[in-house]
Amino acid sequence: MTEQRPVTDTATATPVPTLPDAQTVTSVTHYSDRLFAFRVTRPASLRFRSGEFVMIGLMGDPHPETGKQKPLLRAYSIASPAWDDELEFYSIKVENGPLTSRLQHIQPGDQIILRPKPVGTLVHDALLPGKRLYMFATGTGFAPFASLLREPETFERFEEIIITHTCRDVAELTYGAELIAKLKRDDMMIELLGQENLDKIRYYPTTTRESSVKMGRITTLIENGELFTDLGVPPLDPATDRAMVCGSLAFNKDIAALMEAAGLNEGANSEPGQFVIEKAFVG
Ligand code: A2P
Repeated sequence: MTEQRPVTDTATATPVPTLPDAQTVTSVTHYSDRLFAFRVTRPASLRFRSGEFVMIGLMGDPHPETGKQKPLLRAYSIASPAWDDELEFYSIKVENGPLTSRLQHIQPGDQIILRPKPVGTLVHDALLPGKRLYMFATGTGFAPFASLLREPETFERFEEIIITHTCRDVAELTYGAELIAKLKRDDMMIELLGQENLDKIRYYPTTTRESSVKMGRITTLIENGELFTDLGVPPLDPATDRAMVCGSLAFNKDIAALMEAAGLNEGANSEPGQFVIEKAFVG
């Protein structure tokens, strides 16, 4: 007997499920029991601006009566730069979260759904020109900055780039810390972006629930001026400073209030301003 079956034997052939807008997972890295990053193939037609997000997800469970399945999608910032061949995402794992409780188990070779319609306000087009760019991130809000920090336009537009990342504990800073360290010593990145440009990046990580070199919510460190003293830069000034903000809803609201108090106005794609905000995926 042979293991081969005739090609006409459809009754026993296992159908390969094809998802709508399917992309294939190429790698998965777990950073902690709450955080992981993964890379997928990029649709040939997908063009996006660094900092934008897309809807991604998996097929939901079959409906108990009809057996029909609907896609379960969430907004995810693209963490890879616009020039990359693949797409990278950085995700939280929410216990009992409808999507992330399943998404955290993906393996290379699996398929995810990716709607190729990028949108978002965390883009250079929504910011007026300036001298110093602040990127304020908490948790997985680092993702769009992982893209923007590898985008040549970021360095063409600004003389200084300050990326702050606040997490509960030190382990949760790993994705961002490794990315920035690698960026600064990677030959390909040095060639693409220029050493003098990479030297413009100033990384300011803080933790709130585990002791580290710098502790505290970034909002507190802005309010009490420690951020500026530590970096040796003047307080926020609408004439020179621009900001991009990505974190939880509460974080975004608190930072927006601080930006507005400093005289910065929120921008949009249709009307660029001095700061822009995007909510990091949660759920
Ligand atoms: P904290 O530990 O004091 O809540 P999370 O993992 O819950 O998304 O939080 C990520 C980080 O963002 C934590 O360090 C958290 O600090 C901080 N954070 C949460 N909400 C705010 C806020 N409204 N303003 C400033 N920082 C915040």
